[in-house]
Amino acid sequence: MLVSGSGTNLQAIIDDKIPVALVLCDRPGITSIERAQKSEIDYVIVDRSDFKGQRERFTSEVLKELKKKSIELVILAGFMTIFTEDLITEFENRILNIHPSLLPAFTGTYGKGTMTATLQAGVKVTGVTVHIVTEQVDAGPILSQEAIEVLDGDDEDSLHQRIQKVEHRLYPQTIRQFCTQNFNTTKMKGQK
Ligand code: GRF
Repeated sequence: MLVSGSGTNLQAIIDDKIPVALVLCDRPGITSIERAQKSEIDYVIVDRSDFKGQRERFTSEVLKELKKKSIELVILAGFMTIFTEDLITEFENRILNIHPSLLPAFTGTYGKGTMTATLQAGVKVTGVTVHIVTEQVDAGPILSQEAIEVLDGDDEDSLHQRIQKVEHRLYPQTIRQFCTQNFNTTKMKGQK
């Protein structure tokens, strides 16, 4: 799993007993690291601040770490660095992402920024999308979506809270379905 922040989706996936081989973080000091430690999952930090203006070098470092662990499926959950196409080519159709809107609405926005854009647009319905990552940001094939209502009086926090509640159910469920269709899933029955 590739993460940059609090890692509540990471936690939901761990709690669902989906075996996570590696947590890769693009910055130190984030709560996701504590979550990995607590669940005794290997983690590595590829600090994006060491690769300023060097997306290719950053990507090849990430690739190196994934290969070391023979990773089969890459799950992005709030990962804030956009990598180059090398990784997407290497893991074609094997990288999933979750986005806090009903794509293709509000592409290219992140976290709270998506909430701001949603509220500013005045839409009455928004939601969550899980999709396959392709070279174009937020534009890969959609695997699952769930709608939620935007309520009168919602602010970024209240909306994000309801979105996350859906994410924590939809992401593990979609990953399981994806694996059932694409991998030999016997390994998924028991952790580790
Ligand atoms: C989620 O809302 C996800 O949709 C977006 O980034 C956020 C990550 O949250 N891509 P968390 O770190 O899993 O709590």
